[in-house]
Amino acid sequence: MLSKEIEKALNEQLKIEAESSHHYLAMAVWAETEGYPGIAEFMYQHSDEERLHMLKLVKYINERGGKADISDIAKPKIKLNNIQDVFKSLYEHEVSVTNSINEVVHVCLSNKDYSTHNFMQWYVAEQLEEEALAREILDRLQLIGNDKGGMYLFDRDIKTFHNKSGSA
Ligand code: FEO
Repeated sequence: MLSKEIEKALNEQLKIEAESSHHYLAMAVWAETEGYPGIAEFMYQHSDEERLHMLKLVKYINERGGKADISDIAKPKIKLNNIQDVFKSLYEHEVSVTNSINEVVHVCLSNKDYSTHNFMQWYVAEQLEEEALAREILDRLQLIGNDKGGMYLFDRDIKTFHNKSGSA
């Protein structure tokens, strides 16, 4: 049985994963309407993965005798002018998700809930991958700079980056 404190921490994380899914969905729309089909596909897929991260929490909370709280999702606050903005925002978002996951892990340890601590290790590993992927993409974009041909190839090839992360 989950303690109330753990249930609350997991429900907060559940909301963050739902918001992440929404965040990447908004980015997919931006990319699709700006003429970057590869980036759009990457973001749609990323959005789906975040929904799976959310569902994994929903199921765990319910299975452990808690109740998943399905709350409102705020409209994503993103301001994008170019592709660099998109991936900078993705990276910053993932860093904030990592921080919130670390907080949940901390609550697990202070409550001596080792089962939930174990469950959360999947998220810890996932964040390592997601941050590494985002950094790799940002490095690539820095090399491309404003080169239009490079950007075209980046949009065409981005799916190969995604497959490598193998997440969700
Ligand atoms: Fe589920 Fe990208 O954090």
